Amino acid sequence: MVHEMPRSKKGILIAIEGIDGSGKTTQSKLLFKALKERGYNVVLSHEPTEGRFGREIREKLRRNHIAPEKAYELFVMDRKEHIENKIKPALDNGAIVIIDRYFISTIAYQGAAGVSISKILEDHKQFAPIPDLVIILDIPVEEADKRLSNKSKDLFENNMNYLRKVREIYLNMKNFLNTNIIIINALRPVEEIHKEILNHVLKIIRNN
Ligand code: TYD
Repeated sequence: MVHEMPRSKKGILIAIEGIDGSGKTTQSKLLFKALKERGYNVVLSHEPTEGRFGREIREKLRRNHIAPEKAYELFVMDRKEHIENKIKPALDNGAIVIIDRYFISTIAYQGAAGVSISKILEDHKQFAPIPDLVIILDIPVEEADKRLSNKSKDLFENNMNYLRKVREIYLNMKNFLNTNIIIINALRPVEEIHKEILNHVLKIIRNN
């Protein structure tokens, strides 16, 4: 059940992943800035996107109105558009593409919601380039809950038991995906985590 896909020939694809509150967005931005400063051609993006399907997903999540299969369908449609319009062109152009969430989120979140992980892998094999590096920021669910308690929470952020399952799948991602997967203890200071991520990324760039 391992995801085997040809890697992109030119660019480098990096996915930053983790449960809500793990600090993905902060770390994605720091990584983007550090690579830019080093003169690399780098593109930063995120999922769900700001496109029509991404907006529909956010809206539905806010109102708690969505069955797992329907959510899955929308995430896939959003991702297909994202890959066609942005990720593939950037990779073909030789860029380092950083995405704050990718299909790894679908494996973890929709997998935890009951969608078959083998189906998710099989579907994505058809259209989604596999990342050269997956960074998973790991924090306990209790910590995520504390960090998010002042923000508005959506369906996924609400349920601690659900997030525990999501985290469990993230921690076992090497069973599903055949690529470089790094699990990072994200309880540490932001700058320390950033340095660790940057070191892993520079290693991947050197070996590319
Ligand atoms: P998130 O990146 O946290 O959005 P925001 O920046 O608005 O906080 O993503 C929103 C939620 O969507 C988050 O709880 C994770 C969930 N999600 C999935 O369930 N499956 C997916 O494939 C993706 C990309 C996100």
